[in-house]
Amino acid sequence: MSATVVLGVTGGIAAYKIPALVRLLVADGLDVSVVMTRAGTQFVTPLTLATLSCNPVHVDMWSERPGPQVEHISLADRADLAVIAPATANIIGKLAAGLADDLLTTVCLALKCPVVICPSMNVNMYRNRVVQRNIKTLKEMGCHVMEPESGWLACGWTGEGRMPEPEVIAAEIMRHLSAPDLEGERILVTAGPTEEPLDAVRFLTNRSSGKMGVAVAARAARRGAQVTLIAGPMSVEPPAGVRNIPVRTALEMYQRVMEVFDDSDVVIKTAAVSDFRPANPATGKIKKEEAPGKISLVRNPDILHILGTKKRAQQILVGFAAETENPLENGRKKLIAKNLDMLVLNDVTQPGAGFRQDTNVVHFLLRSGEEESLDLMTKDRVADLILDRVKEIRLRRGRKQDSAPSEADHQVRP
Ligand SMILES: Cc1cc2nc3c(=O)[nH]c(=O)nc-3n(C[C@H](O)[C@H](O)[C@H](O)COP(=O)(O)O)c2cc1C
Repeated sequence: MSATVVLGVTGGIAAYKIPALVRLLVADGLDVSVVMTRAGTQFVTPLTLATLSCNPVHVDMWSERPGPQVEHISLADRADLAVIAPATANIIGKLAAGLADDLLTTVCLALKCPVVICPSMNVNMYRNRVVQRNIKTLKEMGCHVMEPESGWLACGWTGEGRMPEPEVIAAEIMRHLSAPDLEGERILVTAGPTEEPLDAVRFLTNRSSGKMGVAVAARAARRGAQVTLIAGPMSVEPPAGVRNIPVRTALEMYQRVMEVFDDSDVVIKTAAVSDFRPANPATGKIKKEEAPGKISLVRNPDILHILGTKKRAQQILVGFAAETENPLENGRKKLIAKNLDMLVLNDVTQPGAGFRQDTNVVHFLLRSGEEESLDLMTKDRVADLILDRVKEIRLRRGRKQDSAPSEADHQVRP
């Protein structure tokens, strides 16, 4: 994505997190122009932020000008989004009052793009009535003010006022810059492996990292969907901006999925759920000398199959499969047998595909009969293409529903 973000950095202690934020934004392909207040430069150096953003950092309105352009106007004109992080009580007051006594406040007055503000300060400053009044004014003016987090503050107090983590702010920024083409969709994503206990310390699992599901959840949230992620123990962090429900076993995943299923419009099941579990897990640790000669296994519920039997007319169900023999033939059978709208076939035999990789090679099999083989690409890109297909299915279904609503549709969406 090649959008331009003007990032205003003011004199709050949370400025120490801003280099990490800049790195995330640059990694996402954004062109980041940092504007700092004088106080901001006390907490993080312009050199650091210039190096990480690969752009000059602007602090002074009166510094030398290489060209005829007026710096504060050209910065404001270029911006697709402006973010103030951290936003001190001081800048919040100045913006609410419409002051323009330094480069950042002057740029802000000339902005035509959306503005995201990340308040960050001591809890008592944050609760102060004048600060709350200024925040309210900024919201009324159309600024997007992020809720600060609650917890331990650098000043020693505990309470609200902590700037959200860079990953959370980056997700919010990407959400503002992405077309909200999935707004209104409630998407349930499952991800990761499950762990099936053998005793108090041992378990059976598989090599799934959760990366594919995290990519789908993150991209869906970025595109405006309301996302719930139900994930087994993953080796990656769940993305910001989604409701995260961690589980451990296949049975737990089954229970949680069933709780959320009715309120979901789309279900994308990337999780590598264990097909079996030890029949009689020991409550304590099995001693070396008591090692069982064999382990009895019982089948876990086939969650995807059960969802297929319960699916309502308007729900879209997407499954994943990792087949090694006759993948296309077996995939087509699975698509029908499990009543899916779409099956994503992981070609785990290809280099760069499958578990733990950042890339994947997949085939899409759609219920409509369409099939698509994709080249090696990042899991983020695969996630976007899956969501594009989901959107197409929704559009087709919407049209059908408009022309001839079915009984089932009436029951689902009264
Ligand atoms: C060590 C230190 C930490 C500070 N942290 C914050 C803070 O987190 N939030 C805040 O609103 N002000 C904080 N301040 C006060 C601001 O730096 C001060 O109000 C300054 O005038 C802000 O200027 P600016 O808004 O132009 O950047 C801190 C000051 C010091 C000395």
